[in-house]
Amino acid sequence: MAGATMAGGQSSMRAEMTSLDVPAPDPAYYCPAYRSTALRSPKNPLRILPAGLTERRAPVFGPSRVRPEDADLTAGLAGEPLGERVVVAGEVLDAAGRPVRNQLVEIWQANASGRYNHSMDKHPAPLDPNFAGAGRCLTDDLGRYRFITIKPGPYPWQNHHNAWRPAHIHFSVFGTNFTERLVTQMYFPGDPLLPLDPIYQSIRDKNAALALVSRFDLGTTVEGWALGYRFDIVLGGPTVTPVEL
Ligand SMILES: [Fe+2]
Repeated sequence: MAGATMAGGQSSMRAEMTSLDVPAPDPAYYCPAYRSTALRSPKNPLRILPAGLTERRAPVFGPSRVRPEDADLTAGLAGEPLGERVVVAGEVLDAAGRPVRNQLVEIWQANASGRYNHSMDKHPAPLDPNFAGAGRCLTDDLGRYRFITIKPGPYPWQNHHNAWRPAHIHFSVFGTNFTERLVTQMYFPGDPLLPLDPIYQSIRDKNAALALVSRFDLGTTVEGWALGYRFDIVLGGPTVTPVEL
């Protein structure tokens, strides 16, 4: 869920607050059009602290904690959820383009009506008793992941007048410890809301922004059952996947 917070009077001079040894992030921590960033962005230059044992070594996830059925968001409840079933699959790659195996990939999303199964979501759209909206899996030895889910609906938010989020799925790639986590959002091709979305538009590198839009893939599509979309995640280097909170 994107936050929506009133924050008048914030200075745009605060957009870039990083010290020389910390690269300026893209998107910036403070993006005036994305209003909740005014409150949550840092107000002083960042400093890199040395990682301690906890940051470098914990937590470690083993395959025993992640069940294969956790990757199917359409199963596990009493019935089938409403909406368009889709397969979302891709690879997790490192900065050199090599597959990253055994990575915990987590997703969460709204249902087909654009409603999250969360107490903070007040959108007057129906909840689906057969859709919790969260799943997870581990990448295989080739860095691949695969989810079965429902295509999420767009939803309104209070960022500005008549503001609607494009359909999206939130992704987290945990890494091997706390310092490596990457959180972002995946979009669907051809969404007319993308040019109007301050979160998506806050990414200055437009090639990087395009990488957040999944592509329809006939090879991922399952005949007679579900369309397939591909979304690869790059954890570093010049084609790193942008962070989107
Ligand atoms: Fe969201």
